[in-house]
Formats: sequence, C-alpha cells, structure tokens
Amino acid sequence: MTQKRLHIAIQKSGRLAEKSLDLIRDAGFRLVKSASDLAYSVENAPIDLWCVRDDDIPTFVADGVADLGMVGRNVLAERAAGPNSAPLVELMPLGFGRCRLSIAAPLNFAYAGAKSLSGLRIATTYPNLLEKFLAEQGVDAKIVTMRGAVEVAPRLKLAEVICDLVSTGATLEANGLAPLQTVLESEAVLVRAPRVASEEIERAIQSVTARFRGVIASQGAKYVMMNAPRSALPEISRILPGADAPTVTPLAGRDDVVAVHAVCQESVFWETLEALKGAGASAILVLPIEKMM
Ligand code: PRP
Ligand code: ZN
Repeated sequence: MTQKRLHIAIQKSGRLAEKSLDLIRDAGFRLVKSASDLAYSVENAPIDLWCVRDDDIPTFVADGVADLGMVGRNVLAERAAGPNSAPLVELMPLGFGRCRLSIAAPLNFAYAGAKSLSGLRIATTYPNLLEKFLAEQGVDAKIVTMRGAVEVAPRLKLAEVICDLVSTGATLEANGLAPLQTVLESEAVLVRAPRVASEEIERAIQSVTARFRGVIASQGAKYVMMNAPRSALPEISRILPGADAPTVTPLAGRDDVVAVHAVCQESVFWETLEALKGAGASAILVLPIEKMM
C-alpha cells in the first residue's frame, strides 16, 4: 500500500510565499520544485506543497484538497465574515506576515474618526470585513468590491477611500495614500479543516506542527532598546510584540525623552521597528538573548 502524502497549500506569490517556503525548509524538509512551478514535493517526507492564490487556500483546506494551509488571518477572517462558510481550525500563528487591514485615503483627507467615512465610496478586496466594520461603527458608506490593485481606486475616481492590507506601507506611500484606521490585525497562520483525517495524515499533521513550533520558538525572544518621547510610551508598549511592562529610564538632561528597554517574546519584525519609528522612537537596537530564567 502506498503511503498517503500530506498536502499543504501555500501562497503562490505575494508577501507570504517565500516565508512559507523558508519555514518549511527550516523545519528540515528538503523541497524539490515541480516542472510546473505550481508544486513542490518534499524529498525526505511524504509531503507535497501546492502553490495557489492565497484567497483560494481556505476553500482548498475546507474541501479537503489540502490537509493544511498557510495563509493570512485576514483571508480567513474575510471568509468567516461572509455567508455560510464552513469554519476552519487555526492551529498556530507562523511568526511572519504581520500586516493590518486598514482604511486609507489620499494624504489631504481630513479624518475625524469612522464617521468621516459616511456617504463615501470605499474600495476593497475585503467586502465582508469592511461591511462588518462599518456596521459596528454605525457608518453608512458604499463598498466598492475589487479583485486587486485597490490602491489605484482613488486616482481613478472609483472611490474616495480604500480598505486594504498594509504591511510596510510602501504600496500606500507610492500611491499618495495614508492609513487612517485599523480594521483588523493579521499575520500568517496554519489552518486545517475541523474533520479528522486518516490516521496517517493526522500523525503527519502532528509531526509537521511540532516541527514548526520548534522552529518558531527557536527564532526566540529579543531584547529591544530605544529612545522615545515620554508621550509615546502607551503607543510604543502597544507595538512591542509580546513584551511585559517595559523598563523606562530617564535620559540625562532630558525630560521629554526616555530610554525604553523590553524583552519581546515574539519575533521583532522590520515592520515592528518601522512602527516604533513611526511612533517617535529613535536609536532602536534589537539584541539576541542568550539565556533567560
Ligand atoms: C497586500 C496588499 C498590498 C500590499 C501591501 O498584498 O494588497 O498590495 O500587500 O504591502 P506593503 O504595505 O508592504 O506595500 P498581498 O501580498 O497580501 O497579496 P494580494 O492582496 O494580492 O493577495
Ligand atoms: Zn490575495
């Protein structure tokens, strides 16, 4: 009897594609690319990877075409906010792909809270999440659903405002847009369908998730130091990933600026550093921690 192979669906191209492959390689799986570029097989374990559009990953997993999927929580949340979608089980966050779904508008847009969106057209590829957000905020606006390239909508006069993923912020900046408000925080996660698969596949799922956990844990905690305006402390504490109360020390001769030290239990991404800078931090250092007790 031939051994059943575990199928994992990953993003074909986009923010998560390379990092998904990196995690799988770091977990000790040797990848061989198929001739078509749309799949990889693992040389040293009965596993195949399928490279598909991220929006299709939940469907593949729900239908049992793939046993596991690596996908942004944003994609899962959009599906879950829609009508009659079978729920998927989130097994673990994967330690990469941090981003936020944000309302964004041209730089000159005067924003005074969600009410400012009232009566406007908002372009998005996340109509379900946007609809939920607008309902929660009690705002009546028109949702313009697009398939992609949402950032060009204001320039093409298709909408006044957009609701899109922001990771580094480069896409918004290149299009003269600025983020106004976060609708959802997201990162890459590992998902499976709720139903139990064959014993073989269940064992494979256990072993793959255990390896991923090991890789992510070893990416380890970091010691983060920076200078920051005292007034930015609440915002900075919020941005620091998995940190307990940071240590705040005065700087000689400065009343308005303090030194902030914190142990971050989660990976510190470039995105995090940029967010810290955006909040007013400077001289940011990220140091490895050798031992912790
Ligand atoms: C998202 C989003 C933007 C980009 C933002 O695309 O649609 O195009 O990332 O990133 P930035 O802030 O670093 O510029 P994603 O890779 O998720 O692909 P998709 O939306 O086309 O599926
Ligand atoms: Zn997508």
